[in-house]
Amino acid sequence: MTVLLYACYGVDSAAWLTALRNELPEIEIRESLDRGSPSEIDFAFVWKYPPGLLRRLPNLRALFTLGAGVESILADPDLPEDVPLVRMVDPGLAIGMNEFVLMRVLHYHRDMPEHERSQSARQWVRRVPPLPQDRRVGILGLGKLGALCARTLANLGFDVAGWSRTHKSLDGIATFTGAEQLPALLKRSEILVCLLPLTPDTDGIINRETLAQLPRGAFVINVARGQHVVDTDLIEALDSGQIAGATLDAFRVEPLPAEHPFWAHPRITVLPHVAAITQVQTAARTLATNIRSILAGQPANHIVDLTRGY
Ligand code: NAP
Ligand code: GLV
Repeated sequence: MTVLLYACYGVDSAAWLTALRNELPEIEIRESLDRGSPSEIDFAFVWKYPPGLLRRLPNLRALFTLGAGVESILADPDLPEDVPLVRMVDPGLAIGMNEFVLMRVLHYHRDMPEHERSQSARQWVRRVPPLPQDRRVGILGLGKLGALCARTLANLGFDVAGWSRTHKSLDGIATFTGAEQLPALLKRSEILVCLLPLTPDTDGIINRETLAQLPRGAFVINVARGQHVVDTDLIEALDSGQIAGATLDAFRVEPLPAEHPFWAHPRITVLPHVAAITQVQTAARTLATNIRSILAGQPANHIVDLTRGY
């Protein structure tokens, strides 16, 4: 009997267990190590699990994560190097991110922060937005999520550019590659969206120096990880007017501590890490497909490159 260990915390486990049992009726799904022997476990599906868990699973064939970003699992000293780590690439998650980025780009494109300020002051001010073709949006990260958002915005007529580590060619989207081309991407980004994985190279990438390279009055949307942003540098750039507004969905410490200055900043929108949430219905199927591939002797999809860090 093939055994899958479910060890995801901070999510609706009842829904996940029902969906996984429906999708994988031929597999025994255990919710803890108390039943049977840990040596019988072939696969584990994990998120925010207790330290030391992976050390107790000697016969894992693959490790699956509930999230797209894997930096916390890569930091686990017990992560086995010879077991494939498979990250979440879920159609439901992609739909959510696409909606969220579109919503916030349109919010800034259509001057909504200024309209909201006008309403507070009971002022009738008609602002004329530029055409989308004259609005330049830059996307850091052109992976599963970044490329989708870039395409959606380009299809609406926005002037979109994206940045990645290796060269990408995307119809109707200007692409920039590697550290040496980051300044060119920044220079043309009136709205900057961060959809990078958190790695040593991207940690703190939204900082005083990079913010200063954006056009004055640019907007920042961070839907990746809190560590991408140097908090004090962003506040300084907002207070000086270099940055006109920021939408932040992820933070260095989550939940964002009550005393953090982001909460009350008039030009920051704080969201509780909800830009995109792995959806049980679609993701349980993705996981099942991947497990069946492995059982059939095929490689899984979306294996993390441990040296690259994403
Ligand atoms: P992905 O498919 O792995 O794409 C990552 C992209 O970033 C790739 O285009 C990659 O370049 C680029 N990249 C990585 N390191 C780089 C560097 N040093 N310089 C330039 N580009 C670099 O990841 P994804 O599935 O799109 O997810 C992206 C991130 O979104 C996740 O890691 C996670 O942190 C975040 N996320 C947040 C939420 C939320 O609700 N807030 C939800 C889901 C995911 P190459 O294409 O050249 O490899
Ligand atoms: C959420 O932030 C994820 O990485 O899936």
